[in-house]
Amino acid sequence: MRAKTPAEIEIMREGGKKLARTLDILAKKVQPGITPRQLADIAEVEVKKAGLQPILKGYEGFPDVLCISVNQAIVHGMPGKKAFKDGDVVKLDLTIGYKNLILDSALSVYAGSGEPPADVKRLLEGTKRALEAGINAISGGGTRVGDISAAIQDTLDKHKLGVIRDLVGHAIGDKIHEEPSIPNYGVAGTGPVLPAGVTIAVEPMASLGDWHIDTASDGWTVVMRDGSLGAHFEHTVLVTKNGAEILTSL
Ligand code: MF3
Ligand code: CO
Ligand code: CO
Repeated sequence: MRAKTPAEIEIMREGGKKLARTLDILAKKVQPGITPRQLADIAEVEVKKAGLQPILKGYEGFPDVLCISVNQAIVHGMPGKKAFKDGDVVKLDLTIGYKNLILDSALSVYAGSGEPPADVKRLLEGTKRALEAGINAISGGGTRVGDISAAIQDTLDKHKLGVIRDLVGHAIGDKIHEEPSIPNYGVAGTGPVLPAGVTIAVEPMASLGDWHIDTASDGWTVVMRDGSLGAHFEHTVLVTKNGAEILTSL
């Protein structure tokens, strides 16, 4: 974690907007019949077109520019050839570089024509609200990590969702994952202090069932142990003097 210079913040704003637009284009293409493989190929083209660096491709051997995780797969899904079906819950997580600074954002979309069932709505809305609550808990430089964690946990608890504990948000910028980590559970007023100017990835991950996870046999995909549906939303956020600025919103 390192406070960014004004020039770096400007770069991250620009890169974040480009990331948001790219992710939006991809989210709109999530439809029954299309495969994660096809979507990842489109992502590669769009990332290039936007002038973004595809830093995930080859990162620790990961094969693509983004993670695509379906249903009980919650994160780190490797884009495969099995087409999306009506009713799938699809998570897209895109990490890019822009002028050598790194940004990370993820969202969950319902692949289906009709309204999602009530429990899927609760999952998607609750996890999205938890991200908003976590960001709103940032009151500027001096915020403790536990303030963010507690706000996220509280919102997920209120929506009766499983709070994934083994995966966490993180500071970001020079590398994807920097210290400190930003857990999705915790106690307000505790944990590391975040100075103004630092950039962090806030990313609640939640499930309709139990919170325990496993790694699938592909060595990457993280799945809910009980097979329940999972959701994930992530923004890269700048801690400002008196609050927070989302760098990866549209
Ligand atoms: N985007 C992920 C995150 O939010 C990082 C993915 S790294 C991978 O932290 F190698 F697992 F893909
Ligand atoms: Co991510
Ligand atoms: Co992240």
